[in-house]
Order: sequence, then structure tokens, then C-alpha cells
Amino acid sequence: MHQIMQILHEDHINVARLLDVIDHVMDQIRQGNVESLQLACNAMRYMTAYPDMYHHPTEDAVFARLVQRAPETRPVIEQLSAEHKVIGETGTVFLKTLGDSVQQPAEPARLLQLGPAYIDQLREHMNIEEGDVFPIIKVVLSNHDWGLLEETLASAVDPLFGPQIQKGYQDLARVLSDTLSKISK
Ligand SMILES: [Fe+2]
Ligand SMILES: [Fe+2]
Repeated sequence: MHQIMQILHEDHINVARLLDVIDHVMDQIRQGNVESLQLACNAMRYMTAYPDMYHHPTEDAVFARLVQRAPETRPVIEQLSAEHKVIGETGTVFLKTLGDSVQQPAEPARLLQLGPAYIDQLREHMNIEEGDVFPIIKVVLSNHDWGLLEETLASAVDPLFGPQIQKGYQDLARVLSDTLSKISK
């Protein structure tokens, strides 16, 4: 598997973990407990800073190459690229609503409307990528295609799961593993 695909796949694993954590916070809110709002807020700050800024644009570039090589994939690729835009927009609104709620106690109904919808859409989106599209990419794209992609793609450092946890993500990194082990029990 080309390194770009390896990174995209690892991103999905990391994003799935964060969605589990955000899902857990939504459950807490349903039960009237808003103590972990900051955790969801930090997780969404990551979602809008790395997946929205690097993961989705990288996929868009790889997908565009795929459509050239396998035109029959155009409908699903158009759907996925449109979803990248929607996921970015709804994620930004959700993050803003979480931030406002941390500042002052808010009506949880809006969070419970935005959060689960965001989680469901992104999980479904990644399932289509992993199940339907990535397997085709691995077969169809040649070394020449990957070489061209490498030339055009911006290199990105993951601020949370990368080699070094960047400033502003230390708290999230600390709470993340604790929360995940709690959820899995
Ligand atoms: Fe995607
Ligand atoms: Fe993806």
C-alpha cells in the first residue's frame, strides 16, 4: 500500500476513536451531565484543524486521480467530495456551539441535534471510503499516479497523533486514552 493510503487509513482509525469519544460525551449530555463538554470541544477542534484541512483535501486529490483512471467511480467520488464540504461546514458549526456551551450553560438540544448527526455522517462516509473506494484506488492507481500526487500534495503534521503532540492538544491526548478505555469497558 502506498504511504499516502497508509496515512489516510490511519487517519480513519484516529477519527473513529475521536468520534467514539464525542459520542460518549453526547450520551453524558443526554443524561444531564455537561462536565465533559470541553473534551468534545477539544476533539472537534482537532477535527476541524487536521481532517478538514489535510485529510479531506488529500482524499480529494487522490479521488480526482481515481476518476481519471476509472471514470465509473465518478458518482461515488462526487458524493464523497460533496460530503467533505458538508462535514467541514457542520463540524465548524458544531465546534462553535460546543465552545459557546462551555462558556455558558446552554440548551443541550442544539448539541444533541448537531453532534449525533455529525458523528453518523462521518462514520458512514468513512465506511464508504474504506469499504468501496479505497480497495479500488489500491488496484487502479499506478506508481506514476502516486508520483504525481506526491508532487502536488502538501505535507501535513498531525498535531495530535503525529510524532509530537502539539501545544493545545496535550489535554486532549491525556484524556483521550482514559476515556477510550472507559468506553470499551
Ligand atoms: Fe473523506
Ligand atoms: Fe477519509
